[in-house]
Amino acid sequence: MIKQTNSLPTYITFEPLEKIISLLQNKQVAVLVDENTKRDCYPILDKVFEKAKLQKPLLIEIPSGETNKTLETCTHIWYELTQNHFDRKAILINLGGGVIGDMGGFCASTYKRGIDFIQIPTTLLSQVDASVGGKLGIDFNGFKNHIGIFQTPSKVWIHSPFLKTLPQNEMRSGFAEVIKHTLIADKKAWQKLLDDKDIIKNSFENQSEIDIKNELIDKIVAHSVALKAKVTEADPTEKGLRKILNFGHTIGHAIESYFIEENIKESKKGTITKPVFLHGEAIALGMIAESYFSAYLCKELYPHQTFISENDFVAIRNYINSIFEDTIIDFRKAIQTENTAQKITEWAKQDKKNAQNTILTCALEEIGKATFDISISEIQILECLKNI
Ligand SMILES: NC(=O)c1ccc[n+]([C@@H]2O[C@H](COP(=O)([O-])OP(=O)(O)OC[C@H]3O[C@@H](n4cnc5c(N)ncnc54)[C@H](O)[C@@H]3O)[C@@H](O)[C@H]2O)c1
Repeated sequence: MIKQTNSLPTYITFEPLEKIISLLQNKQVAVLVDENTKRDCYPILDKVFEKAKLQKPLLIEIPSGETNKTLETCTHIWYELTQNHFDRKAILINLGGGVIGDMGGFCASTYKRGIDFIQIPTTLLSQVDASVGGKLGIDFNGFKNHIGIFQTPSKVWIHSPFLKTLPQNEMRSGFAEVIKHTLIADKKAWQKLLDDKDIIKNSFENQSEIDIKNELIDKIVAHSVALKAKVTEADPTEKGLRKILNFGHTIGHAIESYFIEENIKESKKGTITKPVFLHGEAIALGMIAESYFSAYLCKELYPHQTFISENDFVAIRNYINSIFEDTIIDFRKAIQTENTAQKITEWAKQDKKNAQNTILTCALEEIGKATFDISISEIQILECLKNI
């Protein structure tokens, strides 16, 4: 059981952005952006630089999106640092979502055997999840986060006003990880999410009208990031407890990877017929599937352990459905196509958590408590997919 606390490791801060300047004096500074964070987020950081009369940083721009989380993009980042004679004392600021954070952190940690980097996560997902715990890396040959390392950033700067420009579907995608953190580690917080469901849903749907810096979102981010930090501090390199953070990910990652790959193939032919699922949307689907697994299939396999009840499963599915209804409809339609569920299962066999040809996953023992390294068969995955 995880000790409930809201305390954060010292490298994560919610301090005013202006204070970042103290870390940048007398250093070569580069800022990694994509076209969206260059347009929507960089002007805020630029003002901070201007106000402090700091020299303009080197701006490295890469194209947005998971499909660019590749070695080719890393080559471009390393090339820019090299061309601009960045030394080992230089610092890279990663201004963006999880793609920028994972890839920028990976490039910084390997450039000249490692320079400092600061994460400024600008999506809800990267604020509550990707920027905490030190996992960095890139995709390879369609396999997600296949190449990477563990490295703690110098700082993670969480500044909620960046969320104001975040598209609604991205906001929802990040919220999947918030749901996950409560399901695996905090029953009270889960109850609070249920109680606040309508306010939360409304804040996603009318994002332009509300001030996103409202207290509720701030509290949710702070609480969620603290939960993740607690788990990762207890097990930094994922030898045990940290694996619970993968709840929803065995099946979710397989869904995400399958559809990314299919879309790449189809776009080459000029016809896109399959839905595209954002990371959090795929994880939301994966959490329903793995909750089903916990409630219906685990008891038989592990008769001496307790797992969530069928009522718990229904509550989880209803809640996720209320937020991700269109994602679920798209998914159900997509897996009616011949062999789609089977092909998604094939992707689960490539999961990094697997050992000795056994697919390993997480299960919920109760709401707020998860277990890990539970084996799941291909037939069971198929059954779970059909019950999303
Ligand atoms: N390292 C980890 O522990 C960890 C954990 C979870 C996920 N991840 C990784 O994170 C990635 C997903 O991250 P993501 O969901 O943040 O996606 P993302 O980085 O692709 O960002 C989503 C989109 O939002 C845009 N954007 C970002 N901030 C914006 C803002 N404030 N306003 C307007 N547009 C903005 C981006 O340009 C992009 O188009 C995946 O690659 C996943 O593997 C890593």
